[in-house]
Amino acid sequence: MATNGAEQQNQAGRHQEVGHKSLLQSDALYQYILETSVYPREPESMKELREVTAKHPWNIMTTSADEGQFLNMLLKLINAKNTMEIGVFTGYSLLATALAIPDDGKILAMDINRENYDLGRPIIEKAGVAHKIDFREGPALPLLDQLVEDEKNHGSYDFVFVDADKDNYINYHKRLIDLVKVGGLIGYDNTPYGMALWSPPLMPHSASMLGTTGTSCWSSIRLSLLTPELRSVCFQLAMASLSAVGSNEQPN
Ligand SMILES: C[S@@+](CC[C@H](N)C(=O)[O-])C[C@H]1O[C@@H](n2cnc3c(N)ncnc32)[C@H](O)[C@@H]1O
Repeated sequence: MATNGAEQQNQAGRHQEVGHKSLLQSDALYQYILETSVYPREPESMKELREVTAKHPWNIMTTSADEGQFLNMLLKLINAKNTMEIGVFTGYSLLATALAIPDDGKILAMDINRENYDLGRPIIEKAGVAHKIDFREGPALPLLDQLVEDEKNHGSYDFVFVDADKDNYINYHKRLIDLVKVGGLIGYDNTPYGMALWSPPLMPHSASMLGTTGTSCWSSIRLSLLTPELRSVCFQLAMASLSAVGSNEQPN
């Protein structure tokens, strides 16, 4: 038993060391999933971008390969065409999105930092999908306010991926609920960090804020297409919470 305990502790240590964001407690299992299922399906351009990003000092911020494929699959399932991304970094999730949507699809992509996006941009261009991307440098909230002001943007987005500035999730949600069409999806990355469902909070400082956002998201929607079991799957895949937007209600 002592050996098992020591082994478990060692494994937990390695899990932290690897620094990936999966909530799986076993590094070996996560590695197995990556090697047998995820990497073999990863498009060449995504692999190239992942490898460039791995050399970045803030590489922990990138969307993982399994999450990228989950995003790609979701977008195809809902036939998403008009999309938005808040938090681009080097563009891994952006490329996953650009590859999933049709040739005339659009992604309004926002980040306060263009330099990191510029690292990934040549790879996105080489993949032939850069024309779908409208990158805006700057904080997301004022841009969302501008979008909300114009009624023609209401209900116009099929999908939004929020992966930045966790403390503002609730503020993003209040605006996005107007911008996403009924039946569209909003994916919030990392909210389980604060919910401590499978592992201790990895980012305790933002725990309460994310927990609150998650609760508000769920309580603000009248129609949820996802069962609790499916939500668990989403969490396991490190997608934070996934809202199926069924109304234009504001969160409480
Ligand atoms: C976790 S990373 C995004 C990862 C990205 N989705 C990917 O797949 O690699 C978060 C990003 O949010 C950006 N960011 C932080 N605060 C922001 C804000 N207020 N508005 C827009 N972007 C912001 C950061 O510059 C950073 O690039």
